[in-house]
Amino acid sequence: MAIDYSQKIPNNVQLADDRTLQRALEQWQPNFIQWWDDVGPDESAKLDVYLRTATSVDPQGWAHFDYVKMRDYRWGIFLNPAEADRKIHFGDHLGEAAWQDVPGEHRANLRRIIVTQGDTEPASVEQQRHLGLTAPSLYDLRNLFQVNVEEGRHLWAMVYLLQKYFGRDGREEAGALLERTSGDENNPRILGAFNEKTPDWLAFFMFTYFTDRDGKFQLAALSESAFDPLARTTKFMLTEEAHHMFVGESGVSRVLQRTAQVMNELRTDDPGKVRAAGAIDLATLQRYLNFHYSVTIDLFGADQSSNAATFYSSGLKGRFEEGKRSDDHVLKGQTYKVLEVQNGQLVEKDVPMLNALNEVLRDDFIKDSVAGVGRWNKVLDKAGLPQRLVVPHKAFNRKIGALAGIRMSPEGRVVGDDEWKAHEAEWLPSAADRAFVGSLMGRVVEPGKFAGWIAPPAVGINRQPVDFEYVRFG
Ligand SMILES: [Fe+2]
Ligand SMILES: [Fe+2]
Repeated sequence: MAIDYSQKIPNNVQLADDRTLQRALEQWQPNFIQWWDDVGPDESAKLDVYLRTATSVDPQGWAHFDYVKMRDYRWGIFLNPAEADRKIHFGDHLGEAAWQDVPGEHRANLRRIIVTQGDTEPASVEQQRHLGLTAPSLYDLRNLFQVNVEEGRHLWAMVYLLQKYFGRDGREEAGALLERTSGDENNPRILGAFNEKTPDWLAFFMFTYFTDRDGKFQLAALSESAFDPLARTTKFMLTEEAHHMFVGESGVSRVLQRTAQVMNELRTDDPGKVRAAGAIDLATLQRYLNFHYSVTIDLFGADQSSNAATFYSSGLKGRFEEGKRSDDHVLKGQTYKVLEVQNGQLVEKDVPMLNALNEVLRDDFIKDSVAGVGRWNKVLDKAGLPQRLVVPHKAFNRKIGALAGIRMSPEGRVVGDDEWKAHEAEWLPSAADRAFVGSLMGRVVEPGKFAGWIAPPAVGINRQPVDFEYVRFG
């Protein structure tokens, strides 16, 4: 499964044997580079960035580190090795052979799933395009760029599937993925969270912690798919996704370290004093968390969805860690609890589990997210501070599903419009919060130096020292 880098498009799928596909992808390639130049990382063309590139898909030795100009990054097509005689392990086709091609009756749904996933990849690059100008260190700048080139590669992964398996429709969809733009009024990205701004580095760290974790759960569910090429490509994408979540988790953790240090030095928990000392107060961190968490859990879709049932029963999309579960993997006749509001109260109700699979995946995501918030709280604990970050109630600030539009406090109490208005600025980042965080952003480019609002990391990348020159300015 070694990757062939002698080709115009690096790959481990014997692309050279399929001339039609190779030609289609080679025609798409310059459009991708044009997109990168137009809406990719700002003012980055001349920078030499210490990036990792995949050399093989085996878990031990896939990464090679070197200085690269990002537009020369070797984006390519890497699939995990095929499993011999792989069987479908959930849904109505349980026990049948996995599909090496797209069955006609599932073509429209599979295309939709792949396009929706593919659309998020370039979207996040667009959302993050200005952040390089205000990076708090060379180490962080490099991590941002690593995330950006890998999201670009994730787009390649989905475009390969579209072009190889969906004919003319696939080619059109591949083109449209470069035409929609995050936040564009006339032609926005498909999902809400990917049209939000990522205006500062705190937002970036929260995004990579929460929203890239949505990516992890979607990819994990797709890696169970009966459509084997989709399963194999998403498995490899998951290894890249892990780094994105690391950037978010360690980023927020370092912000907290710095904040705790300032609070201890000044012996204060007054947000105003913490801010005056150039750190980000815990209340603002909590509001950013509330925002990114609630926007991200909307990405899992409506709590009850007949599409979710169809995707599962027909074998297109499994559950998180489907193979590790001990039920019948068909789920007919089973139920699951979802929330709704009745007479001003949140109540649980049992619904058919197949229809609630979005909620099942959302709940798995919530468990995983909460674990990391616990690790953040250890930073506060270690600093001897009693304050803690918490994830808001899952009904808070929702825009999708049965809880959309319901006014809810972060603790999950239904509130009226007046109470919402009175507390909104305590619960979600205000324009003033964003302006304050924005005021801290300024580019730090001296190796080993860090902006005053964030602590240095404990170790560097690829065993390099923290003061390594991770990005060289030509
Ligand atoms: Fe991605
Ligand atoms: Fe990602």
